[in-house]
Amino acid sequence: MIEQRIPDPVALVEATIDGRSVSIAEGSTVLEACQEAGADVPTLCYLETAKPINSCRVCVVEVEGSRTLVPSCSRVVDDGMTIETESDRVVAARTTIYELLASAVDLSLVDDETVRHMERHHVDVERFAGGHHRTDQVKIEDDLYVRDYDKCIMCYRCVVVCGEEAQNTFAIDVAGRGLHSSISTEYDITLPESACVYCGNCVAVCPTGALMGRDEFDMRRAGTWDAEEQTVTRTVCSFCGVGCNLDLHVQDNRIVKVTSPLDHDVTKGNLCIKGRFGYSYLHTEQP
Ligand code: SF4
Ligand code: SF4
Ligand code: FES
Repeated sequence: MIEQRIPDPVALVEATIDGRSVSIAEGSTVLEACQEAGADVPTLCYLETAKPINSCRVCVVEVEGSRTLVPSCSRVVDDGMTIETESDRVVAARTTIYELLASAVDLSLVDDETVRHMERHHVDVERFAGGHHRTDQVKIEDDLYVRDYDKCIMCYRCVVVCGEEAQNTFAIDVAGRGLHSSISTEYDITLPESACVYCGNCVAVCPTGALMGRDEFDMRRAGTWDAEEQTVTRTVCSFCGVGCNLDLHVQDNRIVKVTSPLDHDVTKGNLCIKGRFGYSYLHTEQP
């Protein structure tokens, strides 16, 4: 007879979020509790497939009894917590963070969610204009992807997926200090000279367009990139037997980008160079 295993009961904690009561598994983050309650909390450095990075602070909320605002992505929810996600203090902090980022880097290609939150918070991108604004040269060093650190908000997502959270290659990290810190290869050598294996996992998690596939970069420069016209088709990578899921972004009958779903329990959005960039052979005119 097969013995049926009854899963261990999950302990729950209760929290009040914007006046609504939620029960959630013990050990969940405040962000997860807020999402459970339907609150619209923005994030930037948070990556659902990695440990909290805690660098951006746009996810802050107000927790009763806490002197400072709390980063919701990394704080574990306690039983009986009372949380406000849209208080004047929270909204002012988030808005200022977006405005300070806009003073330092080019936010023109941030992801759609960030655009939505910036609009919702009435962000004035000119508020702190005149401060230190990055003016890096775009690094075009190969045919696969480019790095434009004018757009880098130092969220470290690329660093953690290149390192111990996914790829374990450690080709990039933070170099320099303060306003002059940036993401860099060792000794700022070119990517082809570095330890990079061109998995493109850093490109996939970059929320600002600072890292971008070469095809997308070239098409944007030529004015032919049209995300609205693109279809996305899920398929299985044909290069080996691992079976990674690929999302093929197709425009004018050509693959222009390959991504992978973050919610895949094996690959978690990560690919290797073949799955991510090995599609140009499909477009060859040669028989
Ligand atoms: S492509 Fe892969 S190995 Fe190269 S820097 Fe990005 S994450 Fe690291
Ligand atoms: S390059 Fe992109 S992912 Fe990396 S730190 Fe900058 S904004 Fe974040
Ligand atoms: S999303 Fe929480 S600190 Fe960045």
